[in-house]
Amino acid sequence: MVEKAAEFIKSKIDGDYEIGIICGSGLGGLCDKVENPVYINYADIPWFPVSTAPGHIGRFVFGVLSGKKVVCMQGRVHYYEGYSPESVVMPVRVMKLLGVKKLIVTNAAGGINESFNVGDIMLISDHINFTGTNPLIGKNDDRFGVRFPDMSFAYSSILRETAIKCAEKMELSLREGVYIGCSGPSYETPAEIRAFRTLGADTVGMSTVMEVIAANHCKMEVLGFSLVANKAAGMSGNRLTEQEVIDIGKQKATVMQKLVSLVVGEI
Ligand code: HPA
Repeated sequence: MVEKAAEFIKSKIDGDYEIGIICGSGLGGLCDKVENPVYINYADIPWFPVSTAPGHIGRFVFGVLSGKKVVCMQGRVHYYEGYSPESVVMPVRVMKLLGVKKLIVTNAAGGINESFNVGDIMLISDHINFTGTNPLIGKNDDRFGVRFPDMSFAYSSILRETAIKCAEKMELSLREGVYIGCSGPSYETPAEIRAFRTLGADTVGMSTVMEVIAANHCKMEVLGFSLVANKAAGMSGNRLTEQEVIDIGKQKATVMQKLVSLVVGEI
């Protein structure tokens, strides 16, 4: 299925793409910055999962960003949409077959760290997979990677250093911390958020961890950013809504776009 999808895409694009970018909720605007874009809708790709989440368009954008060939996913698929963990990471594996060696993932997340403000951008230094599952469960496909992949360096320290330098150039105060990935689709309870803080998490969301596991499995270098879209449950006294997540994404989209564009130019 992965090969069929990749073959279909290859027939519509020119050569390999070394940099892949997965755009999170409300953060797909980066794709509008891609020059000479070629769009391929997920719905047209054989065997490909289609994103149904709000703020996710559901297409690949191939083109040039900061002088580098990039493939962007404008919208991702989530476990909570009902897809199996294996389907959630199929796009990562397809990107592997398209030549991607460096993967940049972005997400909108809840801020757990009390010093974080809404609108902050956090460089992901590590993650906690709290989804209760793993995309590599099942027979291992040795063509992608080993049975027990190491996750000690899940988020490339070299790419992180580059990101920190780019943020300095922008005079952006970049946060750094640990993302905890949950299945969703319900938001967390305040008790869960207190527990996650004790576990060492700084942001919480419903994506990213499975993609990063699959990317490490197939030996991609990974860089990740969380946009703090809201204070996590119980921290502000307000109810959480998906609309605020999308709105903050829109407001902060240009900062995130600039940061990712600068990084792409440097890697
Ligand atoms: N929790 C989980 N996922 C999220 C949140 C949150 O508070 N905000 C944006 N995505």
